[in-house]
Amino acid sequence: MNIAAPELPVDTLDVLRKRRSAKWQTYPADVLPLTVAEMDFALAVPVAEALREAVERSDTGYAMATPGLGRALAGFAASRWSWDLDPASVVAVTDVGVGVVELLRLLARPGDAVVISPPVYPPFFDWVTESGARRLEVPLAHDDAGWRLDLAALETAFAAHPAAYVLCNPHNPVGRVHTAGELAALVRLARTYEVPIVSDEIHGPLVLPGATFTPLLTVPRAAEVAVSVLSASKAWNLAGLKCAAVVTAAPGMAALADRLPPDTRWRVGHLGVIATTAALTAGEPWLGQLLATLDHHRARLTGLLRQRLPMLTWDPPEATYLAWLNCTALGSGNKARDLFLERGRVALEPGLRFGAIGSGYARLNFATSGDILDQATARMAMSVT
Ligand SMILES: Cc1ncc(COP(=O)(O)O)c(C=O)c1O
Repeated sequence: MNIAAPELPVDTLDVLRKRRSAKWQTYPADVLPLTVAEMDFALAVPVAEALREAVERSDTGYAMATPGLGRALAGFAASRWSWDLDPASVVAVTDVGVGVVELLRLLARPGDAVVISPPVYPPFFDWVTESGARRLEVPLAHDDAGWRLDLAALETAFAAHPAAYVLCNPHNPVGRVHTAGELAALVRLARTYEVPIVSDEIHGPLVLPGATFTPLLTVPRAAEVAVSVLSASKAWNLAGLKCAAVVTAAPGMAALADRLPPDTRWRVGHLGVIATTAALTAGEPWLGQLLATLDHHRARLTGLLRQRLPMLTWDPPEATYLAWLNCTALGSGNKARDLFLERGRVALEPGLRFGAIGSGYARLNFATSGDILDQATARMAMSVT
């Protein structure tokens, strides 16, 4: 008998549609939204309890992130990734976006180049512009083994001394977990050409069975050139609560973090700190169930796509709950995504939002129930036949 681990529960569509969040409020009620990176699973019990207790004691004032957040992150990083992180190096920021933008403001003068690697999480494009810098795109490479950093092209770009590189580790939307070897090569380039790296590691806890996450700051000598931004918000679905952490591991980069605007601490969500601390200190068992559930869904989606939408191709992700679908057989631009939405009433993220290289692609969020994935793929198939 096959005793499969139970999957995390998801409410019925009627209940999900009562959520006030962006994922469930953007589209009309007949559309299945598999879009923005929110999850449909019920909250982890320790997180829900911490939030409930905070509300019960009317504890809704300003955040006090020190020293608890640093200690919680250090404990989690040690147990999960054997990363010996100094709790005192942790600076709380509102969210990963605020952390990256404020770091770029410190690293780049107006008009300086900042390198990003499309296809990549759409706000990367906006964050560079918001900081006053100019985008320099070095797309990922793709071959039979999937998507990866194009280290040769990055070397050419770094040789022109851009102000920074924003790394997505693991990489949204392709779900690639950069290997320790690739990150070591990246660090060598960054040190040779003196290019600081801002590493967005929000998907770090979401590495699925079969891959190993390497926090950039654990790579030898990375600490001299790198600063990381982490958050519990993807893995425990806390995006609306507003809490992330900037982490450094050497004096030069710590001095940079010290120059973050002092008022940043007042812009962090208090419930975000409470929920994040609960997630990092007591949320690992739930995270294990989440990763098992996502692993099942990845396999389920592989089968459903093969059976119902054989014209789509993809490299199943090593991390995240996002599927980067090559729909070029159905047309370029956002053609397939528009068909799925208009005819099938299934919303995916349009590939072009992730850069020009996303033409013909769409991103599907599979952090939902098996039933919804079943319905969504059936409707997508119907919309293209
Ligand atoms: C790579 C990446 N960075 C950052 C974010 C957003 O983080 P935050 O809401 O903390 O700015 C996301 C959200 O999906 C993401 O995928």
